[in-house]
Amino acid sequence: ARDRRFLIAGNWKMNGLLQDGVDLAKAVAAGSDGRKAELLVCPPATLIKPIVDAIGGAAVAVGGQDCHYEDSGAFTGDISPTMLKDLGCGYVILGHSERRAYHGESDAEVKAKAEAAHDAGLVAIICVGETEAQRDANETLTVISTQLYGSVPEAATPDNTVIAYEPVWAIGTGRTATPEQAQDVHDHIRTYGMATFGPDNWDGVRILYGGSMKPGNAGELLSQPDVDGGLIGGASLKADDFLGIADAAD
Ligand code: G3P
Repeated sequence: ARDRRFLIAGNWKMNGLLQDGVDLAKAVAAGSDGRKAELLVCPPATLIKPIVDAIGGAAVAVGGQDCHYEDSGAFTGDISPTMLKDLGCGYVILGHSERRAYHGESDAEVKAKAEAAHDAGLVAIICVGETEAQRDANETLTVISTQLYGSVPEAATPDNTVIAYEPVWAIGTGRTATPEQAQDVHDHIRTYGMATFGPDNWDGVRILYGGSMKPGNAGELLSQPDVDGGLIGGASLKADDFLGIADAAD
């Protein structure tokens, strides 16, 4: 990861009721002291405020899992980036493959959301990744380039943007990309980003791997030169597993 600081991010997805969520966040906070890696939890929106309060001054950032591209207005059920910021969020996940698949989010929509997140002072974690059929058809790198081109704002910098590479076939399946497969795509993301958005900007952009990351496989993934952290689903729901992955980053 060169001099980029590892980011170990938990995407809790639609999991967690009030007490369990607060307990989990407290357990993560209890293991956060003195780490080299930055820790982030992204709980369901309903838990953000109690978790921000429960974490207190511990070194755990909190993020949302999605936001709207407008700041307020007649958008029933949606949450704006300013609302996330207002609750104490520093990050928001955008364009997760589950949002793209179940809510039909397009690259253009993800880009508009990322711009709105930047305007609100949030770091956007923009997700990209190929399906298994696309990988089998040797389309992986083209798919990733198209998603980056369409979803990443021109003004992305290491301070306001993180990219998450999540191969769809590895999400929640127990099948992890090999370290070589991950590094190949991460290298492509950095090279493409440097060529498209500017070399200075993109050397420092953190690129996370997501897809069945666990304590047992995190070490070798995180040792790849362009893997700068993880976006963790299932294993982020147990404090020991999540902190075990953070151990691998330290
Ligand atoms: O955003 C994280 C994610 O999609 C990976 O999920 O359960 O495979 O770690 P999981």
